[in-house]
Amino acid sequence: MEAHRICLLPGDGIGPEIIAEGVKVLNAVGAKHGVAFTCTEAAIGGCAIDEFGCALPDATLEAAKASDAVLLAAVGGPKWDTTDPTRPRPEQGLLGIRKGLELYTNLRPVQIFDALAGASTLKPEVIEGVDLMMVRELTGGVYFGRRERFYDEEGAGPHGAPGQRAYDTMEYREYEIDRIARQAFEAARRRRGKVTSVDKANVLESSRLWREVVHAVHDAEYQDVELEDILVDNCAMQLITRPADFDVMVTENMFGDILSDEAAQITGSLGMLASASLGDGVALYEPSHGSAPDIAGRGIANPLAQILSVEMMLRYSFDMHEGADDIRRAVTRVLDEGWRTGDIADADTPADKVVGTAAMGDLVVEHL
Ligand code: IPM
Ligand code: MG
Repeated sequence: MEAHRICLLPGDGIGPEIIAEGVKVLNAVGAKHGVAFTCTEAAIGGCAIDEFGCALPDATLEAAKASDAVLLAAVGGPKWDTTDPTRPRPEQGLLGIRKGLELYTNLRPVQIFDALAGASTLKPEVIEGVDLMMVRELTGGVYFGRRERFYDEEGAGPHGAPGQRAYDTMEYREYEIDRIARQAFEAARRRRGKVTSVDKANVLESSRLWREVVHAVHDAEYQDVELEDILVDNCAMQLITRPADFDVMVTENMFGDILSDEAAQITGSLGMLASASLGDGVALYEPSHGSAPDIAGRGIANPLAQILSVEMMLRYSFDMHEGADDIRRAVTRVLDEGWRTGDIADADTPADKVVGTAAMGDLVVEHL
C-alpha cells in the first residue's frame, strides 16, 4: 500500500501538544479507510531559531516540498518577541513557508457547531445559520510588499527634526488578484453561489485594482455567481450584525487576517477554526489560532482546530471525503455529548464535561 507523506511542523507553545492529537486522528481515519500516512517532523518558528538560528531552515522547506501535504500547528511566543529588525522572528517561518510553497489561497471556514452556539458572545438569533468561507489572499499585499525602516535626517521628528521612519507597502499585481478571485468564485459554485469582495477602494489604489480585476473575472467567466463589494470597515461591522448573510468572502492578505479573527469569534472560540492554504502544489493545513504560550505544556489546549485541519487535508489534498466527513461527525458527536476543553466550556452549563488535550483527541478517535 502506498503511503501519503505528511510533513509535520509542530512549532512552538501548544503546537507539539495539539499536533499529536491531529496525527492520532489522521492515523485512525487512515486505518479505517485503508490509507497509510507516513509522518516526518521538521522545525519551524521559535524552536527553529533556537536550534538553527532562523525560523525557516532550508531543510524544513525542502522537507515540506518533498511531502504530499504539510500539517502545521502554531509558531511564536514571548521568548522570541522583538521589535529589532535585525533579529529573527518566529512568524518569519510561517510567512516563509507560505511564500516558499506559493500558497496564495487561504481558506478559513466559519461554521457553528450547534452544541457550542451558547459559547458565542453574539445573540443566538444573530449567529443562527452562520456558514461562511473566508478566502484570504496569502502571499501578497502589505505582508510581502516593500518595506524599510531608517533614520531620516530630513525630519521624521516634530518640526522637521531628524528621527526614525518606517513604511510598508500594500502592493498587488493583476495576476495575483485574478487567481484568488477565481478561487473564491469556484468555492461559491460549490456552496451557495455568492461572493462578497472586501476592499478599501474609496481610499487605496491597490483596492481599486482589486475591485476592477475581481469584476473582470466575474463578468468574463462567473456570471452565474452573485458578486457584491463591501468596504472593509463596513464589513467588520456587518460581520457581527448579520453574519449568516455571507457565503464566500474574498479579500487581500491583511484585511483577511483581521476579519478572520473576528469571524472566528462568531463561533465562540478561535480554538475551533481550521484553515487550508493552497497553491498549485503541496498544500498546508493549520489551525487559525496561535501558539497560546500562556497555557503551553499543561495539556489543556483545545486540539479541535488542529483536528479539523486534518479534515480539510483529507478533503483538499487526498480527496478522502468520507474520511473527512467521519472526522466532522465525530467532533460533532463529542461536542453534543458535552465534552469540552476549558476554552469552550461554559461555567453555567453543568452538563459540560471538561477534559484535557489528549483526552479530547482520544474521544474523537473513539467516535470515529
Ligand atoms: C494568521 C496569523 C499569522 C498571520 C501570523 C502569526 C504571522 O495571525 O495565520 O492569521 O498574520 O498571517
Ligand atoms: Mg491572524
